[in-house]
Amino acid sequence: MEKFVVIGGNKLRGDVNIESAKNAVLPMMAGAILTSDEVVIKNCPKISDVLNMTLILNSVGVKTFFSENDLVINAKNVTGNAVPYFLMKELRSSIFMLGALLGRVKSAFVFSPGGCNLGNRPINYHVSALKELGIEFTEKDEKLLFNGTVKGGKVILPYPSVGTTENIILASVISNAVVCIENSSIEPEVIDLINFLSSMGAKIKVNDRTICIKGVNKLHGTKYKPISDRIEAGTFIISTLITRGNTTLHNVNCKNILPLTNKFQNNTCKIYPKDDIIQISDVGTIRKFNVITGPHPAFPTDLQSQVIALLAVTEGNSFVYDTVYSERFSHLIGYQSMGAKIRQKGSIAFIEGVNKLNGSLLYANDLRGGAGLTCLALYPFDKSEIYGVQHIDRGYLDFDKKLKSLGANVSRVSY
Ligand code: EPU
Repeated sequence: MEKFVVIGGNKLRGDVNIESAKNAVLPMMAGAILTSDEVVIKNCPKISDVLNMTLILNSVGVKTFFSENDLVINAKNVTGNAVPYFLMKELRSSIFMLGALLGRVKSAFVFSPGGCNLGNRPINYHVSALKELGIEFTEKDEKLLFNGTVKGGKVILPYPSVGTTENIILASVISNAVVCIENSSIEPEVIDLINFLSSMGAKIKVNDRTICIKGVNKLHGTKYKPISDRIEAGTFIISTLITRGNTTLHNVNCKNILPLTNKFQNNTCKIYPKDDIIQISDVGTIRKFNVITGPHPAFPTDLQSQVIALLAVTEGNSFVYDTVYSERFSHLIGYQSMGAKIRQKGSIAFIEGVNKLNGSLLYANDLRGGAGLTCLALYPFDKSEIYGVQHIDRGYLDFDKKLKSLGANVSRVSY
């Protein structure tokens, strides 16, 4: 097992490169099985969620290998329709095999996916949307069996769910049908999946929150560079602000990170976006702000824990309301143990900013919570230990090494 040992107090300084977006790459990996040609996902981060997804692809006969930083996927032979139970439980994105297998072999045998523990995360929207589109569904014990080809029509999602939107797209791109999704997710990662599939010959149109897919007979191979990870970028912006540092982030999609950077307009800290670079400098007093998370273009829930860490050391009272996951607050106990003044009521964290914290023993229960704990541990001139690093490794490539390269005193220790 591994932990991070952090001694805070150092200002982050220097340059850091942002990786391709985890949540864009994972559905693309499933989408790669929609063609028997070779697919290359360029600059694919070797994080544990990606490595587990390669095992899932291998389990249905698909070949994968890394050529330096590019992931090569060859689905010439898809030998099965079933994803093993233990692999389904490794990550939430295993559920993308449902849409992709339906698209390729018109049948999928899966289980409820695992993933970060953020409270109840059902897949009822996925199931009802696919049933509405004519897919047969049977459930026995924990086994979920889907069969058939999508027939044309319109589905109206009860909520703009990212995964449901992506699964419907994956199931529909190879078909004889026209499928329209209303109230769809328009997260940048969904749009990037659409661009990836379009580069393979798919016909998909996006108009506001309506996505229409005109099925085609066949897709071809592609070499595709996914968008940059807005959540990793946001995490480095926040950790720079927490330490009142001065950093430059490269390979950033500045537009996709606006829900965060907009919070600092008229603030005394300076964030300069230019092309694919964000520079954070002259971090003086940060003014408090409130946050309500929601589907894009609202503030992303995946930056909720990190922004609470920042507000915990920002003067004044603020609140953060997570409308996406009402129970995604397991990091608060760690913040409180460091001396942060935070009170949770339902899905809202009320924060009273302080300027002094102490080090503590911290436990990461999920990916973003673990990132938030690490960010806050950079603040006090004290030692903290963060356990549960395997959760952080799901989504951040070399998080400790990157922080270290910016001057943080962080080490990864086996125990
Ligand atoms: N929901 C349902 N039923 C469903 C699907 C979703 O009730 O069938 C609920 C969820 O429980 C949640 C809300 O709807 O409360 C939003 O879920 P959504 O389907 O949009 O999320 P997801 O596809 O499971 C993706 C990201 C998450 C991110 C959310 C929201 C991937 C692989 N995961 O999950 O990323 O939090 O969208 O933006 O794309 C992370 O990266 O740390 C992470 C958790």
